[in-house]
Amino acid sequence: MQRALALLSCGAFLALASAPLLASGNAANGKTKAAACFACHGTDGNAVDPQYPRLAGQYNAYIQQVLHEYKSGGRDNPIMKGMVSTLSDQDIEDVAAYFSSLPTKLDTLKGHVQGD
Ligand code: HEC
Repeated sequence: MQRALALLSCGAFLALASAPLLASGNAANGKTKAAACFACHGTDGNAVDPQYPRLAGQYNAYIQQVLHEYKSGGRDNPIMKGMVSTLSDQDIEDVAAYFSSLPTKLDTLKGHVQGD
């Protein structure tokens, strides 16, 4: 009994400890919400035009943080400020989950027009 209780409390601790990871959004919903992003960042998140950053495979936490910064003005960019103004916290988690789940080309500039 003692042991079962110890295991239970251990499980509860792990569940709590992993809560921030679970709050990482829904990639399927994110794909729908990201439709407005594809024109610049590419349908696969690997923009070809070098003026638009590649998002595919970027760290989930990075995407979330920078989107919040565009929203707050902490990172100042008029285009992105407009894009994030209508996104809720849940939307941000979902689009970040989506773009971070895509196969990345961040390790090379190949195909990024000026990087060829
Ligand atoms: C009209 C073009 C355009 C659209 C549409 C657009 N973006 Fe951007 N995005 C940009 C530009 C330009 C930058 C670079 C801004 C800067 O220098 O900070 C950028 C930067 C970003 C960055 C930061 C990338 C990095 O490496 O730091 C993220 C994340 C991002 N956009 C996500 C999105 C999401 C999510 C959407 C859709 C809701 C979206 N963008 C729609 C043009 C666009």
